[in-house]
Amino acid sequence: MANIKLDFNNTNVKLEDIIEYENDIKRIHEIIHRNADEESEYLGWLNLPTNYNKEEFERIKKVAEKIKSNSEVFLCIGIGGSYLGARAVIEALTHTFYNYKKNDTPQILYAGNNLSPEYINDLIDVIGDKDISINVISKSGTTTEPAIAFRIFREFLENKYGVEEARKRIFCTTDKEKGALKKLATEEGYECFIIPDNIGGRYSVLTAVGLLPIAVAGINIDELMLGARIAQEKYLDTNLKYNECYKYAVVRNILYKKNKDIEILANYEPKMHYFTEWWKQLYGESEGKEQKGIFPAGVDFTTDLHSMGQYIQQGQRNIFETVITIQEPNSDITIKLDEDNLDGMNFVAGKNLSYVNKKAMEGTVEAHVAGGVPNIIISMEKLDEQTIGHLIYFFELACAVSGNILGVNPFNQPGVEEYKKNMFRLLGKPGYENK
Ligand code: PA5
Repeated sequence: MANIKLDFNNTNVKLEDIIEYENDIKRIHEIIHRNADEESEYLGWLNLPTNYNKEEFERIKKVAEKIKSNSEVFLCIGIGGSYLGARAVIEALTHTFYNYKKNDTPQILYAGNNLSPEYINDLIDVIGDKDISINVISKSGTTTEPAIAFRIFREFLENKYGVEEARKRIFCTTDKEKGALKKLATEEGYECFIIPDNIGGRYSVLTAVGLLPIAVAGINIDELMLGARIAQEKYLDTNLKYNECYKYAVVRNILYKKNKDIEILANYEPKMHYFTEWWKQLYGESEGKEQKGIFPAGVDFTTDLHSMGQYIQQGQRNIFETVITIQEPNSDITIKLDEDNLDGMNFVAGKNLSYVNKKAMEGTVEAHVAGGVPNIIISMEKLDEQTIGHLIYFFELACAVSGNILGVNPFNQPGVEEYKKNMFRLLGKPGYENK
């Protein structure tokens, strides 16, 4: 069974300090569970692993099969919460070089997450004359980056296949009735998937937002949901001695109060890079407001030990790390003995590379903790669908609880509108002239 373990022994936080939050946690737990079904509370993700739209879920699997059978490229157009979750899961659970490999599933490419002309031109170049389907994902249906990318790639598809066939290759994931994308989809007859009203972008990976691309990549979405369901049940217990999800939320708040206002999520597996990106968005958008919040940063170790490692070891002491470690790798390599030993590496001969990676992690934790950086360790049993589903739910729930402890609303993002007003004014968007 998918499992996640939390170890806070390297944080200098005691269990008694955590238990002091017991009443807060009980209150927050009770409020979020009581309001779980309230449309306006953005808590739809809380019971999602049991309470998802089963009909749509089956349709996602069917459509994914169709896309797999007629497409060499699947282009996901979206940004922020309408992009990062799918990419996080796909990169964590597929071959490291998935897009370079011959697969019986399409290459997965992404657009609409930046405004670079070079990116789009290079993407068009790489797609070439391959068969393609598109999934445009936008809850509001009005976000500039995906809207522009979709305009470009809709034309690309229509030129390639003609309007009728293009229609069969475009899939929209958006609001059930609002927004420009919904209107366009209805007029053009594109197949749509729904983003529930009560689930915000950064909590939406287990809705059609993430599930369609994830299923197209050949990942078992039943197992992913099962992992989240296991977590949903596991973290119902409000006893802080046992609830590791709530413990994580509390420990990071205790560290924040000790002026540790940067949390670095560290991994030792390159496949987890985009998971960290997803986590950064989840925590950054949820907690960074009212001049409060822990700044979420990410590093990929051991790569970044040769860059950010210096700062973490000896820079400003306002940081703590949360290290994700995977107990059992899905494959391994034994390092061979070399008679000549010219590279001097025979001291690791006979050892597995995963063992070396683990020792690098242990050595780093020891060094960083000694250097004044508290380390929380989250162990995943392995990198599979269930465990990733579990970890997604773990972080979502911890984030909601942590935001509440901090005293902010973890489900809004008023700050992201500020740059848009300026950008629209500068671009001459009607209605923004004097903003
Ligand atoms: O988490 C969020 O709400 C945001 O990151 C959104 O997902 C992002 O801005 C994209 O919005 P939309 O799905 O409306 O295009």
